[in-house]
Amino acid sequence: MNMKTPDKAVTLFDEAAATWDKPIRVELARGVARAITTSLPLNQTMTAMEFGCGTGLVTALLAPHLGKIVATDSSSGMLVELRKKIDGIGLANIITRQLDLTRDPLPDERYHLIYSSMTLHHIADLGALMRTFHDLLAPGGRIALADLASEDGTFHSDSTGVMHLGMDSKELLSLASEAGFTDLAVTTAHVITKEGNDGKVHDYPVLLLTGKR
Ligand SMILES: C[S@@+](CC[C@H](N)C(=O)[O-])C[C@H]1O[C@@H](n2cnc3c(N)ncnc32)[C@H](O)[C@@H]1O
Repeated sequence: MNMKTPDKAVTLFDEAAATWDKPIRVELARGVARAITTSLPLNQTMTAMEFGCGTGLVTALLAPHLGKIVATDSSSGMLVELRKKIDGIGLANIITRQLDLTRDPLPDERYHLIYSSMTLHHIADLGALMRTFHDLLAPGGRIALADLASEDGTFHSDSTGVMHLGMDSKELLSLASEAGFTDLAVTTAHVITKEGNDGKVHDYPVLLLTGKR
């Protein structure tokens, strides 16, 4: 676990943004988007928020299935890349917002869906984040949160801003339940196969937690 300041992590993501969309991340986003669309009843009347959208790899895939999407991230560099896609492909139902839900005032609007991919492990207090998600959802609204399963510390080549070595599924379920979510389930959305920082090739499963407010 690395306790360097979040601001350093924001700078790192700003710098990584222009070359973020590597094939391994595009494949991951496809797996996560597929798992969300098969796990939850989505429709074009739903208003959604993505937490930690990055360059919008998952959001671009979910856009045809949803109404308005507010794509949020603390990194302005990531949002610049997403806005290029919105303008280039004409993703008219996505708006971007620079927002850190762990620090900034919460938006007034309420959502039918909050989803996220590979951002939870950057958040120190996951219980507080679950409560924030619960507050931001309309009654009956859903969460769909994807992140690495518990890993052995080999996943990241630079651990700046990494607060958890993946997620334990039982702990995730318990945090979500304590925040008030029901209909909880954890599935495996995808498996990332890549070389770890120990020089060996690993399979890193990515979990999807779904639940209902
Ligand atoms: C590993 S990247 C994943 C990006 C994207 N979801 C994807 O799958 O390609 C984590 C993202 O979370 C964002 N992030 C980290 N901490 C955050 C916070 N506290 N609030 C908002 N965004 C955050 C980072 O800026 C980064 O874009």
